[in-house]
Amino acid sequence: MSSLRNRADPCILVIFGASGDLTRSKLLPAIFNLTESGHLPEEFAVLGVARPQIDQDAYRTQMREQVRLVEGEPLEPDKWKRIEDRLSYVSGEFNDAALFERLKTTLGEVSQRYHIAPNYLFYLAVPPDLFGAVADGLAAAGLTNEADGWRRVIVEKPFGYDLESARALNAELRKGLRESQIYRIDHYLGKETVQNIMAFRFANGIFEPIWNRRYVDHVQMTVAEDTGVGKRGAYYDKAGALRDIVQNHMFQVMTLVAMEPPISFGGEDVRDEKVRVLHAVPPLTRDEVLRHVVRAQYAGYTSEPNVDPKSRTETCVALRLFIDNWRWAGVPFYLRTGKRLPHRVTEVAVQFKQAPLMLFRDTPVNALSSNAIVLRIQPNEGISLCFDAKVPGPLERLDTVTMDFSYAEHFKAEPTTGYETLLFDAMIGDQTLFHRMDMVEAGWQVVAPILDEWKNDTRSRVPGYEPGSWGPSEADVLIERDGRQWRD
Ligand code: BG6
Repeated sequence: MSSLRNRADPCILVIFGASGDLTRSKLLPAIFNLTESGHLPEEFAVLGVARPQIDQDAYRTQMREQVRLVEGEPLEPDKWKRIEDRLSYVSGEFNDAALFERLKTTLGEVSQRYHIAPNYLFYLAVPPDLFGAVADGLAAAGLTNEADGWRRVIVEKPFGYDLESARALNAELRKGLRESQIYRIDHYLGKETVQNIMAFRFANGIFEPIWNRRYVDHVQMTVAEDTGVGKRGAYYDKAGALRDIVQNHMFQVMTLVAMEPPISFGGEDVRDEKVRVLHAVPPLTRDEVLRHVVRAQYAGYTSEPNVDPKSRTETCVALRLFIDNWRWAGVPFYLRTGKRLPHRVTEVAVQFKQAPLMLFRDTPVNALSSNAIVLRIQPNEGISLCFDAKVPGPLERLDTVTMDFSYAEHFKAEPTTGYETLLFDAMIGDQTLFHRMDMVEAGWQVVAPILDEWKNDTRSRVPGYEPGSWGPSEADVLIERDGRQWRD
């Protein structure tokens, strides 16, 4: 990962979808933060491409306002001016060849005016059905040709709708691009706490020896959101929680938790190990899908804007998987995610086996809790170790206590959007934190039996749950049947 380089290559960032929400709320604020932290070179510019027919000045004013809102405070004038002075805008339709010719001319002008070597980073912040059109347009205009500088393309999620469509999309991108030019983004991998999973496991000698089936009872992962689908009904109703969160974000975190130590932190070595984890997940049989995968929908979902009133789309999913390799055989991984749950939390709990002997049998202690290491991805970022301790007093009583590491308290770091690292990595050509195609395919392969079952089953009841609850009782049964419990 980007540890050895401090400054990005000279380049022009071209954002397709420059008037959209992602640009305003994440990409430009991330560029602003990278400017503040000194990670961008002098020779850097941003070029927005979108449909609205507005001029450059109007675009600059709009973006200044929006970024100020996101930052929540007045922008430091010098820093913002540096970006604004080099912020250009080109409007047009993404399937119109003329747009790409105009873009090519503007890129030439910007690169000459600011003496920027012609390295172009194209960010596809557009709906997935336009990925192919933009990639084709770039290739036809000769903008993917690396004769005089590098050309890279960042593709937003979702990468496909299932295995087949992901392969088709990839084939479309590959018409004009090599794999080394494609950066499939997953913003979870930009989170410090997600990147820290590797540091935690591999920079410390004490955890690795117990990080396996001999000591770990099970692993549970939760990605809970208290919000609903908001304005994204049209997209979400076609996706659902399994595609939206499990197949990408959760599988990425799971692979970091479960992978073998890579032989280096180089992009290929790390991704080789990660993909092996997904390949080790045995395909679920139909019976297993029925028994170990739960889907549900929050009450009121079908009245959300742009959602089909008869929708069966899941807004919550819980499932049990195994990773059939030497390290993890027999250790269940329980995953659950949902919208409109009680609060926003993403965490991974590695639950250890109980102490082997109940030495406390002649005391008031009648149960031991099991130790856990909890990786708190967000919010309240940190790591906790939970263990039992004696309650002070003459009676032998135990209570579960927690040792805590908190990012905010220790590092006092400013919160980031998560996109800073990813943009920076793309600018220095480091693909470690981006999905490789085999990883995307492996993810789709794992969920394929579930998607198939749900596609074929158009009649059975999709359980409901009350907004603000932890999902349907079926999700509790899923884990309690195995004698375990969700950590709430
Ligand atoms: C996105 C999903 O990828 O991640 C959204 O499409 C979800 O539905 C979001 O809300 C969650 O991201 P974060 O960073 O807020 O956990």
